[in-house]
Amino acid sequence: MSSVVMIASGKGGTGKSTIACNLGLTWQIQGEKTILIDMSPNARCLDLYLGVENYALFDIRDILTGVCSTDRGILTAPHLSGLQLIPGAQTESVQWLRKETLGKLVEVLKYKYDWIILDCPPGAGEILSTCASVSDGGIVVLTPDWPSLRAAQAAEEVMLENQVMSRGYILNRVIRDLEEKKLELDYRTVDEALRCESLGAVLEDQNIRAAGAMGIPIVAKQDTYIAENFRRIAREIRARLYDEEW
Ligand SMILES: Nc1ncnc2c1ncn2[C@@H]1O[C@H](COP(=O)(O)OP(=O)(O)O)[C@@H](O)[C@H]1O
Ligand SMILES: [Mg+2]
Repeated sequence: MSSVVMIASGKGGTGKSTIACNLGLTWQIQGEKTILIDMSPNARCLDLYLGVENYALFDIRDILTGVCSTDRGILTAPHLSGLQLIPGAQTESVQWLRKETLGKLVEVLKYKYDWIILDCPPGAGEILSTCASVSDGGIVVLTPDWPSLRAAQAAEEVMLENQVMSRGYILNRVIRDLEEKKLELDYRTVDEALRCESLGAVLEDQNIRAAGAMGIPIVAKQDTYIAENFRRIAREIRARLYDEEW
């Protein structure tokens, strides 16, 4: 079975792209063929996070407008178990982005991939709605603070409007010290505010940032607590969003 999962937050900087590439690499390492699609126009970053920026000749816009074939537009990261990526478009306008053409692309990709991950831009507007219209699962990534929670609710609303019924959230950049001092939003508040299930939490860890800067998602190193945490989150996604036994 092939699953199309969108990763959104409403707010920028919550860690959507970081989580997208680490989740994607976790599945790819486990033998499940995965492709990431960078849906942030004019602010792409997955090519950098995967260290393939020098090979990004074509992008999602080129594929959707027929400038290149789907195969030509897909980049492979040989150093990351062959994880694949469609880079984001480098245009401000998104007139080229239509539900129908994105839907057709996703249908074609379903023949080849187990996981299709749409890394969404911040905001809860038209692009998010377009992504939601082709997704069967949605992950909201938020940080434990009120602005992020509000934006997460807006993003979830767009998912609901587009009948993305399988949804979960990941709390990212959690700082235990602040949590213990009650200076961060607690789980219960987040859980009550969102209409979806918790898939796990990721701690604030400078190694995650350093790895992103080097173009190698942190889970490439498998024997760390972070890689184990992502394997756990990946299991939760299968179980809670897709009812799969693992
Ligand atoms: N758990 C984390 N710990 C430390 N840094 C993180 C964490 N998650 C994300 N970051 C860093 O935060 C910045 C923004 O992350 P990014 O994934 O690009 O956010 P978004 O896609 O939501 O805009 C990046 O520098 C990234 O390395
Ligand atoms: Mg991003």
